Amino acid sequence: MADLAVVDAPPAANEDKKNEQQQIDPYNVSGGVDEHGNVKAIDYDRLIQEFGVQPLTEEHLKRFEQVTGKPAHRLMRRKLFFSHRDFDKILDAYEKHGTFMLYTGRGPSSGSMHLGHTVPFLFTKELQELFDVPLVIMLTDDEKYLHTRNKNKGTQPKGKALEDFLAFAHENMKDIIALGFDPKKTFIYTDYEYLGGHFYWNTSEFESLVTLNQATGAFGFGESTNIGLIAYGAKQCVAAFPSSYPDLFGYKDYRPPEFDQAAKRRHKALSKIPTLIPCAIDQEPYFRVLRDRCERMTDPHPKTCLILSKFLTALQGPGGKMSASDENSAIFMSDTPAQIKNKINRHAFSGGRESLEEHRKHGGNPDVDVAYTYLSYFLEDDAELEGIAQKYRSGEMLTGEMKARCIQELQAFVSAFQERRQKVTYETMREFTRPRLLEYKGNPNPTQAKSAPLAEKGSAGDEKPAAREDGRGTKGERKAAKLAEKLAAKEKERLALRQRTDAGQTEAEQTAPGPTGPETPTQDP
Ligand code: TRP
Repeated sequence: MADLAVVDAPPAANEDKKNEQQQIDPYNVSGGVDEHGNVKAIDYDRLIQEFGVQPLTEEHLKRFEQVTGKPAHRLMRRKLFFSHRDFDKILDAYEKHGTFMLYTGRGPSSGSMHLGHTVPFLFTKELQELFDVPLVIMLTDDEKYLHTRNKNKGTQPKGKALEDFLAFAHENMKDIIALGFDPKKTFIYTDYEYLGGHFYWNTSEFESLVTLNQATGAFGFGESTNIGLIAYGAKQCVAAFPSSYPDLFGYKDYRPPEFDQAAKRRHKALSKIPTLIPCAIDQEPYFRVLRDRCERMTDPHPKTCLILSKFLTALQGPGGKMSASDENSAIFMSDTPAQIKNKINRHAFSGGRESLEEHRKHGGNPDVDVAYTYLSYFLEDDAELEGIAQKYRSGEMLTGEMKARCIQELQAFVSAFQERRQKVTYETMREFTRPRLLEYKGNPNPTQAKSAPLAEKGSAGDEKPAAREDGRGTKGERKAAKLAEKLAAKEKERLALRQRTDAGQTEAEQTAPGPTGPETPTQDP
């Protein structure tokens, strides 16, 4: 029979923790401390007010299901993704014009990811599958290096050199790949490796739109913050612009040694593709800064849309999030089944009663029970989850039983993950990190495809993806070039057909491209 675990008291706050207020931003996540010195649960309703984001409603879920024809992901159904900015607009854009870009990321602060880190990625993966859209994943080795130095008053701790963060990024990349992303539609990069070309041009322009005052205000920087960290946010922001990744859409980037004339300017057409960012709410301050400036870029971009999640609670209970630097607060993706079992049994805060008798009589509280909380993130079956909550409340289900169910679910998830992780090689990583034309279909039946403000592989916009002069180039480039060629041929045919019906023209005149040549986007007949 399952034993009833003793109810752990929520952890006492550090003596020196003067900070009693809830604080959520990219560098701090804490629910604050109450008058008894206990950590408080994060107040998400207050966060909605303070940040000025919108709550995700039943209406959104309905609309989502109507647009995708599939049920919403469990994380959305259970409001673990709980708020948004302009989520409706991205659904509108998809319905009308057929596609958008997904963007998310991770700061590789260590080589191992924990359960909480997988949450936004699992959700993003599902969105990518449902919408069939391109996805970029940014690994911010630069951010974490700069932040670590900043935290250590400018010094560099052992094992925390710049190169170490790049190595962490590679380890994290393997973890992310093992979650099952499709390499045909997904581009993953680390900042230290990829930044340059049009991405850097966007960065530089964006940096020119943010003053020191504004950066200080948004992120709580001070005079002793290193200047790298102060400027870093611009990179995380412009990473949301499709024009930062021309190769993914069949356009040229500008990187030495080619001096490619087709890429001397950033591609205006790409700036028309809208973006949705699924992420945890602590990242919202970056994207607030972004949204305020999207329309001020030389090539204006529609305001980036966001869908925002709560944090996966630490084992010790609501008030903190799982932290990679606290071994006992988190379940790591590298933990063995025995470690998972031990951590849940020993450390997971329980919503059960003091004694078996009390529990049977009054029932437990699943809302604060960490094992139940984890089940709500990872257990797919709505009916089973409902049943568990109800049995726990009535006292029929004991804490030990709740924990056992949680352990079973997490062990299964983590070991399936580890099996896939083992198979990820540098070869696999190259498939994801190579800049190349992504393959995706988007909405099969957009309502206004032809007037789309989107640059769909050269079907609209200012310039066409061009082939390399020597006719070689990457597979993606060749594919894009073929597509452009096909479009051009079609256009030529159409022109010829029209002109043939106009009497009195020579064959030569008939087949010559019009004044704008094959660049003219194909019109509806
Ligand atoms: N700053 C994020 C972190 O520390 C990493 C990140 C970069 C990110 N771009 C993102 C997270 C976009 C979510 C969405 O983890």
